Amino acid sequence: MGAEPVTRTGRGRIALVMIDNPPVNSLGAAVRRALDREVAAALDDPNTAAIVIAGKGRMLSGGADIREFGKPPPADAPILPQVIDRIERGTKPVVAAIHGTAAGGALELALGAHYRVAATENTRVGLPEVTLGIVPGAGGTQRLPRTIGVKPALEMMTSGELIASKRALALGIVDALVEGDVVDGAVRFAERLVAEGKGPRRTREREDKLAEARANPNLVAEFRQQIKRSARGQESPGAVVDCVEAALTKTFDEALAFERATFQRLVGSDQAKALRHAFFAEREAARVKDLPEDIPAAPVGRAAVMGCGTMGAGIAICFANADIPVRVLESSPELLDKGLARIRQTYAGMVERKRLSQDEMDKRMALVAGTTAMADIADADFVIEAIFEDMALKKEVFRKLDAACRPAAILATNTSSLDVNEIAAATRRPDRVIGTHFFSPANIMRLVETVRGKATSRETIATSMALAKKLGKVGVLVGVCDSFVGNRMYYAYGRQADFLIEEGALPQQVDKAIQDFGFPMGPFATRDLAGIDVGYRIRQQRAAQRKAQGLPPDPRRYSPIADRIAEMGRYGQKTGQGWYRYEKGARAPVPDPEIEKLIVAVSQEKGIQRRPVTDQEIIERCLYPLVNEGAKILEEGIAQRASDIDVVWLYGYGFPRWRGGPMFWADQIGLAKVYDAMCRLYERDRDWLEPAPLLARLAKSGGKFAEV
Ligand code: NAI
Repeated sequence: MGAEPVTRTGRGRIALVMIDNPPVNSLGAAVRRALDREVAAALDDPNTAAIVIAGKGRMLSGGADIREFGKPPPADAPILPQVIDRIERGTKPVVAAIHGTAAGGALELALGAHYRVAATENTRVGLPEVTLGIVPGAGGTQRLPRTIGVKPALEMMTSGELIASKRALALGIVDALVEGDVVDGAVRFAERLVAEGKGPRRTREREDKLAEARANPNLVAEFRQQIKRSARGQESPGAVVDCVEAALTKTFDEALAFERATFQRLVGSDQAKALRHAFFAEREAARVKDLPEDIPAAPVGRAAVMGCGTMGAGIAICFANADIPVRVLESSPELLDKGLARIRQTYAGMVERKRLSQDEMDKRMALVAGTTAMADIADADFVIEAIFEDMALKKEVFRKLDAACRPAAILATNTSSLDVNEIAAATRRPDRVIGTHFFSPANIMRLVETVRGKATSRETIATSMALAKKLGKVGVLVGVCDSFVGNRMYYAYGRQADFLIEEGALPQQVDKAIQDFGFPMGPFATRDLAGIDVGYRIRQQRAAQRKAQGLPPDPRRYSPIADRIAEMGRYGQKTGQGWYRYEKGARAPVPDPEIEKLIVAVSQEKGIQRRPVTDQEIIERCLYPLVNEGAKILEEGIAQRASDIDVVWLYGYGFPRWRGGPMFWADQIGLAKVYDAMCRLYERDRDWLEPAPLLARLAKSGGKFAEV
């Protein structure tokens, strides 16, 4: 960096203080030092009547430099709260010009200014610190409530949501919106202030917006209760509430000090480390190790989805949402109608819940076309197959797709378990065949496992990863193995859940322990949601296949409980009964004595003496084998890196983000501890549980998955 990271120029009587620290004007030490100096100089300059603070390039500022987190601040630069304090105490009006994304420290800086104007287009503001396990540490928790009121400030800061310019105006975060150049607009705004003789309006002195909450102390208490439930063990949202409460009960300076202390305490916490890990892991997942940066991703102008069932409909919606025309192909006009209706209903539901305008729904529906003729999808750039999970059928369909589609088209399969290499071999373009494993519901879940076959070309990988991003997904590259990364690990986890209930636990106890760990749902409630029939059919098919191949039944430990429940016609939520009962129209699982009877009967049949199972045992039995399977996946090269496995679990299965993902979590616990526990489990119950060689090696050398 040669040039000054902050410049000051005169525009008549307005001083323009411009942050110029590419690429995103982050507020590192050099910027803070220069900003502090230039603001001080402008305040001293007798020719300056007002000050505008703005950012060059794409945004005002990207906020704090998160690489500085957890390190001691350099002694020769002011910390951000000091810079903001100087601005706020200034005796001349200061206007912040916001454009692009002003998140975290950037918005805190703007809240320290006396007035704010924002570009109408492409502006988003917010305080997302909570998602990194911390609280705003430069006055955000004090100045936002003073600017927009306690309730909206709590909502914004505990969700971390970024909001667009119009809402920012309506809430009162900004005073005016500017069409065209935001700096010019801010200068005009400042000139008007001077002309009207308006002086500084210091946020620290504004008390009116706090009055409502001061009059009603329950407001904060109720919000705290509510946030406690949704935070599922994450500390930072509650800490935000504490800081806002301090705004109501302490002086501004005391509350500011309280916020700073809270920030300092959290920034070095395990949760914040885990959340920073999750943040970087997601970015890292986009990088493919053996893919040079210059391999171009082919544009996807037209897409096709084959099979418009549960997954196909959701995937088609993803394309339409991303403004990519998509044609869905079904096997009969009736099924096509049904499939298109499924898409329409999903959108209509969003309109009903006010997540989408009718206008927008119409626009997106207009991008979706249907057909029953393969010739109609011949011109697609990217085809995703989402028909039944049946190898013979998929091979036949890929042969036909290969013949019908243009040679450059990429043919992807959404298979959740089948061998992508075998599917690819049914075509003459195995280099342009890949797996795109979406998760259900496909229009909501953000994970896509991008499955690379042995012949898949680098261009095909680049295009598929770029497409995932375009669809708003988090693509993670994985290799071919049975069930890929996420589901393969999930089986290891689910099996243990089954064995635990044979040994003495009940589904509700297992689910509660897993929820208390931080998952949104336990394994049994999850199965009720997904449908018990699906897994049942897969297990039946696999058993039949073994038989057809002349193999004896799998000798490993097997729990028949799920099969018995499926055979009772209890398929889960969709039939009102499964592992639990469901009241009509409700989604809350109710423990069912009938299932308890069934479980106890199975224990008896197997000669298992039921015993009390602790929550600690549930966590170790379910999650250590999951980590162990992850270690095998890593060693086999099925995942590129441990953090990719974490991303799969964060986005596909709701692993608590504040624990960083299973591999990071295991690294934190210490792999020796995980390994010892696996050895004990293996000793007792050989099946499936052999410790992964990689886990054994790392445990002995004191290593971590992160270093592999
Ligand atoms: P589904 O049964 O809901 O939908 C399959 C659709 O494909 C049906 O509408 C059927 O009419 C259509 N179809 C069948 N043969 C066809 C053909 N020759 N031409 C055109 N359309 C045809 O199945 P679902 O659940 O959507 O699964 C689809 C694929 O996605 C499977 O490979 C499955 O393993 C995979 N998958 C499923 C997940 C889930 O949670 N349901 C999750 C991830 C992947």
